Amino acid sequence: MIYKFYQLHIFPHLLNQVMQVPSLMDKRRELLLAVSGEVLEIGFGTGLNLAFYQNVDTVFALEPNPDIFHLAAKRVHAAPFEVQHILAGAEKLPFADESLDHVVSTWTLCSIADIETALEEIYRVLKPTGTFHLVEHVQHNENRKIKQLQHLLTPIQKKVADGCHLDRHMQKLLEDAQFECFETQYFDAEGIPKIGQRMLLARARKLS
Ligand SMILES: C[S@@+](CC[C@H](N)C(=O)[O-])C[C@H]1O[C@@H](n2cnc3c(N)ncnc32)[C@H](O)[C@@H]1O
Repeated sequence: MIYKFYQLHIFPHLLNQVMQVPSLMDKRRELLLAVSGEVLEIGFGTGLNLAFYQNVDTVFALEPNPDIFHLAAKRVHAAPFEVQHILAGAEKLPFADESLDHVVSTWTLCSIADIETALEEIYRVLKPTGTFHLVEHVQHNENRKIKQLQHLLTPIQKKVADGCHLDRHMQKLLEDAQFECFETQYFDAEGIPKIGQRMLLARARKLS
C-alpha cells in the first residue's frame, strides 16, 4: 500500500523535478532543434520537451502513466501547436507502418519493460527516410566499476524509479534493431549521480 502511494503520488512529482536538471534541459534543446512537422514522442512524461520544439505542427504525446501525464497539463495548454495524448506504451504503437518522419525519446528507453519490441515498433512506424532522435542514460562501458554497480543496483532502481534500468547498452540495442546511428555523442551529465551520469545523444535511421 505504501509502495502504491509512492508510485501514484510521490514518484510523478520527483520525476518532474529530477528531469529539470539544467544539464538535461540543455540536451533537450540540442536534440529537438532539428525536429519539425509531426512527431511521436514516446514516454512523454510531464511535457518537459514542449518548450524546445521550434518548428512542429503536432506532437503525439505517448505516455502510459496517466498520473505522470496529469502533471503535463499546464505545459500542454501553453504549447503553440497541437499536442495529442495517447495513453499507451511503446511496445504497441497505434500508428500505420512507415507513417512518421520523427520519433523522439528522452530518457524513456531505460524504463520500457520490453525494449526489443518497442524498438521494433519504432522501426515499423518510421518512414524509410525518418529519424529516431534520442537522449538516454546508458551503461558505462568505459568504467568497469560503474558498470558493475549499474548491474548490481538496477533491480533496486527499477523499484524506486518506475522500471528504470541503469545498465542498458542503448547503441547496441539500436543496432540489433536494425538502426544505424549517424550522430552519436557520449557525455557525462552535470548534476547527476555517477551511477546514471553517462549519457548518449544520438540520431538514428533505419538500415535499408
Ligand atoms: C524517466 S521518465 C522520462 C520522461 C520524459 N521523456 C522526460 O524526458 O522528462 C520515463 C518515462 O517513460 C514512461 N514509460 C514507462 N514505460 C513505458 C513504455 N512501455 N512505453 C512508453 N513509455 C513508458 C514513463 O511513464 C515515464 O514518463
